[in-house]
Amino acid sequence: MTIKPKTGNNNLPKVFIKTFGCQMNKLDSELIFGSLVKKGYMLVSDEEIADVILFNTCSVRQKAEDKVYSQLGRLKKRKEERPDLIIGVMGCMAQNEGEKILERMPHVSLVCGTRMFLKLPSFLEEINRSNRQILAINEDVTVDYDRLVTQRLNRFSAFVSIMRGCDNYCSYCIVPYVRGREFSRSVEDIVNEVKGLVDDGCKEITLLGQNVNSYGKGLHSNSTLATLLQKLDTVDGIERIRFVTSHPKDMSKEILEAVGELRSVCEHLHMPAQSGSDRILQKMRRFYTSSQYRELIDMARDLVPDITIASDFIVGFPGESDDDFNDTVTLMKEVRYQNCFTFKYSPRTGTYAEKFVDDVTEEIKKKRNHILLELQSEISTKMNKEKIGKSVEVLVEGTSKTDKSKLTGRTRQNQIVVFHSPERFFPEHSISDSRAGDPSSFIGKLVNVTINDATDLTLYGCVRE
Ligand code: 5AD
Ligand code: SF4
Repeated sequence: MTIKPKTGNNNLPKVFIKTFGCQMNKLDSELIFGSLVKKGYMLVSDEEIADVILFNTCSVRQKAEDKVYSQLGRLKKRKEERPDLIIGVMGCMAQNEGEKILERMPHVSLVCGTRMFLKLPSFLEEINRSNRQILAINEDVTVDYDRLVTQRLNRFSAFVSIMRGCDNYCSYCIVPYVRGREFSRSVEDIVNEVKGLVDDGCKEITLLGQNVNSYGKGLHSNSTLATLLQKLDTVDGIERIRFVTSHPKDMSKEILEAVGELRSVCEHLHMPAQSGSDRILQKMRRFYTSSQYRELIDMARDLVPDITIASDFIVGFPGESDDDFNDTVTLMKEVRYQNCFTFKYSPRTGTYAEKFVDDVTEEIKKKRNHILLELQSEISTKMNKEKIGKSVEVLVEGTSKTDKSKLTGRTRQNQIVVFHSPERFFPEHSISDSRAGDPSSFIGKLVNVTINDATDLTLYGCVRE
């Protein structure tokens, strides 16, 4: 350990990590944190006292990159005041922008791409020693990590990456360029990691990948997502397994059967449609039609009657006419999603769609986005209100942000539930238990909640007496 602390009484150098973008980035930040803790760093939540500030970034839309540039700009003055402060950019934008970041923001010391982040501790030592800038965006390496399972921000719920990269090259998407080719981890590695997490108190595992449905491609074991789910379901102590994201073209009956039949696999799918127009789907290079997509939804509901489904939609893709957009509106109405993420198309340099003229005006993109958001909110409200009077199983995640006397958690179907503190319903917590009456002592427990109210994003209730 050659890095010396620069602030505070504590002897450990302090690192602050801000994460942008998807769940894979959140996981990577946790892995980075684990690798830094092994080397004697300490994570802080206050950027002001940090010796090292890291941004783990996203490139999916231009706005995500603009946000990071603006945050980096803001730090210029701090770096002038404290020249030994290390500012680093990691992840997709680091891979995408590379040297440009160092040119535009010379006070940045480190640009570290999507496949080099586990080398971070040695990069930091090198910067500390030589005071030189480091650009590490090598593409010919696979991410191979030994996870420090004890270093997690959430004790009872964890992400596990089962594959990385993407071979799909949807025409609008930059991910295959910044995250590289698809690579599946071995079943053995995944099962061992999950066992380690469960031994450390984890109850819920979310399997992550850009396209989890094609898990197993390139492995010699004939493994698929369905067989992996079967294996993981047998791990002792595991309560809930989720997986994201599903590409419709790789969805199979076997996967849906696994969701329906396996005890721990939650009844929820995130299966982005992106558009309801066949013409646009073809231009997006999605390799399915809207009717094939509808058939998959029907099969999912047939095999898993209480399943909830989420989707992503892009509005204003080049050439999207009113008719194309109306096809999306119709699909959204018919499917009745639990929730949807909607995005205005953002052209990305190097993608296939870059050659199309970005001809839908910002105003129309905004209007279409607003229409989808309103429609989805109406659908979600109706679907959530259907839950009133019913009992749902909730994994308690924490206290409610707006009312500390209430708890919050998720159902198996991924709905957020806010409910009254259940202290008096847990007789095993006696008066002598110092945690009795403290709602946070229920974090990580499974409770049954009866729903008495609902909005588009939240179910409200109380613990069943
Ligand atoms: N513009 C807008 N949205 C995009 N997405 C991916 N690329 C773009 C882009 N260029 C959306 C897709 C994807 C989600 C993660 O981000 O809907 O599913
Ligand atoms: Fe991007 Fe398509 Fe791969 Fe998803 S499946 S990461 S949208 S290229």
